[in-house]
Amino acid sequence: MNFLLDEVARATLRLAEAGVASPRTDAEELAAFVHGVRRGELHNVPDGDFDALYWECVARRAAREPLQHITGRAFFRYLELQVGPGVFVPRPETEIMVGWAIDTLRAMDVADPLVVDLGTGSGAIAISIAQEVPRSRVHAVEIDSAALAWARRNIDSSGHADRVTAHQGDMRTALPEFDGRVDLLISNPPYVPTREAGQIPPEVRNYDPAPALWSGADGLDMIRELERVGRRLLRPGGAMAIEHGDGQGIDIPRLFPEELGWRDVRNCKDLAHRDRFVVMRRADD
Ligand SMILES: C[S@@+](CC[C@H](N)C(=O)[O-])C[C@H]1O[C@@H](n2cnc3c(N)ncnc32)[C@H](O)[C@@H]1O
Repeated sequence: MNFLLDEVARATLRLAEAGVASPRTDAEELAAFVHGVRRGELHNVPDGDFDALYWECVARRAAREPLQHITGRAFFRYLELQVGPGVFVPRPETEIMVGWAIDTLRAMDVADPLVVDLGTGSGAIAISIAQEVPRSRVHAVEIDSAALAWARRNIDSSGHADRVTAHQGDMRTALPEFDGRVDLLISNPPYVPTREAGQIPPEVRNYDPAPALWSGADGLDMIRELERVGRRLLRPGGAMAIEHGDGQGIDIPRLFPEELGWRDVRNCKDLAHRDRFVVMRRADD
C-alpha cells in the first residue's frame, strides 16, 4: 500500500508541474484505471503491483491529454460513457442542467414526454434523461459524424436504445416532423467566443472537436439560432434549457423576449455559483 501511495504521490507532483488542474485526483483515477478498480478501492491493490503502463498514462496526462481520453470513459450522472478522439468530453456543469430538465419533466402532466437534445456529442444528456425519466422519448441531434458514432455506441450500450434515437443533422433545421410538439428541448451548444481562443487550456484546444466549441466572436451565435429553433419545436407551455459560458448569463435572457412568446426566463448557476444555463418556457396558447 505504501508503495502505491508513493507512486501516486510522485505522479501527483509530475502532473502538478505540468499544470494539470486536479493532479491528485487524476493520479488516483489513472491508478484506478490501470488496476481495473474504482478510486475508492485503491487500497485493495497489492503492494508492488505497479507497472510501466501507469507511468505511460501519467506521461500522456502530463502532456495535457484529457484524463477521459486516456481511460476511454467519462462519468456523467449515473452513466459511464465511452469517449475518445472526435467527441466532446461531458462536463460536471452539464449534470446540473440535466437535473433541472429531469425535475421539469417529472413535474409535467405528460405520460410519455417528447424530448430533444441538440448537439448530443457523446449522448450524455439524451441517455441520462431516458434513464431517469422512464417513459420519455428522446431524440438526439448531432452534426459531426465522428461524434455521432460515439453517441450511437453509448446509446446502444445504455439499455435505453428503444427510447433514444440519434439523428445526424444541423440543430438549426433539425426534426421538422416534431414542430410544435416537443415537451422539452435541451442543448449544450458550442458557446466559446472565438476571441478567447488564446485563453483556453490545452486539453480543450487540442482534444475537444472544433464544432463543439466555437460560436462566433461573442460565443452566442448558436444560442441566437436556438431561440428560433425553440420557437419552432416547442409546444405551448413546453420548456427549454441551454447551457452557456462564463460571463454570458447577462446577455442571454434578453435573447428570449416576452414579445416572442418566451416566459419565465431565468439564469441558473453551476456548483461554483456561476451562471451556467438559462431556462424558459413557451407561453401557453
Ligand atoms: C459543447 S458540445 C456538447 C456535447 C454534449 N451534449 C455534452 O453536453 O457533453 C456541442 C455539440 O454540438 C455539436 N454541434 C455543433 N454545431 C452543431 C449543429 N449545427 N448541429 C448539430 N450539432 C452541432 C458538436 O459537434 C458537439 O458535439
